[in-house]
Amino acid sequence: MTVFLFKTSSNSLHSNFSSRRTTRLGFATSLTAEYAFAPPTALVFIAQLDEALAPATIAERESEAFVLQHVREIANGADPYRNTLSGHSCRVSRLARRLAEQMELQPIEIERIAAAALFHDLGKSRIDSRIWTKPSCLDPEEFEMVKMHPVLGAEMIRPFPALESIVPGIELHHEALDGSGYPYRLRDSDIPLTARVTTVADVFDAMTTTRTYQAAIAAEAALATLRHLAGVKFDVRAVAALCEVMEGCRADAEPALVYEQLIARIA
Ligand SMILES: [Fe+2]
Repeated sequence: MTVFLFKTSSNSLHSNFSSRRTTRLGFATSLTAEYAFAPPTALVFIAQLDEALAPATIAERESEAFVLQHVREIANGADPYRNTLSGHSCRVSRLARRLAEQMELQPIEIERIAAAALFHDLGKSRIDSRIWTKPSCLDPEEFEMVKMHPVLGAEMIRPFPALESIVPGIELHHEALDGSGYPYRLRDSDIPLTARVTTVADVFDAMTTTRTYQAAIAAEAALATLRHLAGVKFDVRAVAALCEVMEGCRADAEPALVYEQLIARIA
């Protein structure tokens, strides 16, 4: 199987932004010109953001609160029920927001986490889509490609100066507290909270939805796995928040329906 990376264009995006501050960055054009396959949802989201910010003033585009509000509107308008990966970014954003609220974080931090979670897999759009739909295990070369997607996603967000604060949440969402994650094998407090919360929401959604390489497991089983690895790989507070949120949904639901009820309630 031939796997290749699409050329990254972060440098040109940076120069585009500095020289054409009142125009678009061209993500919408990329959707049709650069991708022969269906573009990932996160790429659609960033194209929508690019378009929404086009008429804004320079001051507005440099305002974190202004840009995060647009990100929130995009997340709210997306469909979390689209099957498997296409709705994944949306669901992870909504779940990460709910966890951050449960953790009683500051409002701006909640918005940052929700935004980082919405764009966490943006970098997958720059890797051949066949790797994401391969039904069997990845070979070592393919896995090395996969490990680049957080870095590629971070590069794609950097042209938005107002979103600088969410870059670590994207770049580090596959790191683990015990240093077993990627791409940098960071440990403990070197991993910012934005990334830690995104990770818990991402892993929970990944485990409870069917992928080409794995069947979905029940929400209760996924929760047990996260609880078992809390403090080892996953943030203790974020896992505790997930348990509390799930507990709130559990009272009147069959176990198999708990996750669907959760998503419905936070949608
Ligand atoms: Fe990812």
